[in-house]
Amino acid sequence: MNMPSLPDVTIDWENLGFSYQRTHCHLEHVWRDGAWGPGRLKKSPYLKLHIAATALHYGQSAFEGLKAFCCQDGHLRVFRPQMNARRMNLTARRTCMPEIPEALFLAAIRKVVIANRNFVPPYGTGGSLYIRPLLFGSGAQIGVSPANEYIFLILVTPVGAYYKRGLKPVRAVVFDDYDRAAPLGMGHVKVAGNYAASLEPHLKAHEQGFAVELYLDAKTHRYIEEFGTSNFIGITRDGRYVTPKSPSILPSVTNDTLQTLAKDMGMNVEARQVAFDEVLEMSEVGACGTAVVITPVHEIVHGRTVIRVGPEDGCGPVLEKLYKRVTAIQYGEVPDPHGWCVSLL
Ligand code: PLP
Ligand code: COI
Repeated sequence: MNMPSLPDVTIDWENLGFSYQRTHCHLEHVWRDGAWGPGRLKKSPYLKLHIAATALHYGQSAFEGLKAFCCQDGHLRVFRPQMNARRMNLTARRTCMPEIPEALFLAAIRKVVIANRNFVPPYGTGGSLYIRPLLFGSGAQIGVSPANEYIFLILVTPVGAYYKRGLKPVRAVVFDDYDRAAPLGMGHVKVAGNYAASLEPHLKAHEQGFAVELYLDAKTHRYIEEFGTSNFIGITRDGRYVTPKSPSILPSVTNDTLQTLAKDMGMNVEARQVAFDEVLEMSEVGACGTAVVITPVHEIVHGRTVIRVGPEDGCGPVLEKLYKRVTAIQYGEVPDPHGWCVSLL
């Protein structure tokens, strides 16, 4: 494909973190009168928004997160974008926003990634282009009801590998005075307000020296739900992959991917209710999500109880193997037997 050249960018690829960095443009579609309009690339990262937009007042706002990779063969590929399209539509339905046709979602990703292709970290740096689709009510409304206008936008920003010098185990905390999501609430969708609710416990965890907070089910506080921004996975002493199944956790694309890879490796995978006490039987615990892939957890603190759940000096062998396998597929270093990577260029 013949591409017009883009202005040069100067980025220290080796030292990228997970923070917003301005790129050439983002893409915007507007929904009005019952239909999505054309996608427009916009250079300014600012929006002109009505002061009565429902996103601002009533939290009618949802987002997604996925990544594009510059692969070993020089091609640019996105990892499992259809999964994010489906999850965004699940959130759209739950929050009474218009759905985004999958073809429109995929075309929008292609357009905005290609327009920012020189912001994709080169192969070998461990970085990727983080893609953030955002859907929100932009129409004015003062009574509590759905907006009559919506914006679907996608911004992209280059991010670095979380673990440049190997996977670094962290400590997790369980707070008894916070819940992430109500049993029949919105925990299973990626609505913005879930993250507003997580800020206070997350800051509290940080102040106390914990990298992540682990939530139990809101009704009984007996079963594991998930971490603030990632799913819980445990490897039992006899080598089973155990992960909570609950109507109030976010269905993670990374967890789904890791479960499939674990099965490919011959492991037993159990997605079911997981009692908190079961962590005593686990030899490895991880938090999984798009941003980090896997964060190994070596200790979980719940009140006065301190539970060791994995090695302190490095990642456990099973999670490390899974981490290496998924990242090798993402960077095109090994075959992609499940057809997860979608080629853009
Ligand atoms: N759980 C929550 C609450 C999250 O915010 C995320 C990240 O988006 C995940 C799990 C992991 O999901 P995924 O693997 O699709 O990024
Ligand atoms: C992830 O992508 O894994 C996340 O946790 C998203 C987060 C930045 C909200």
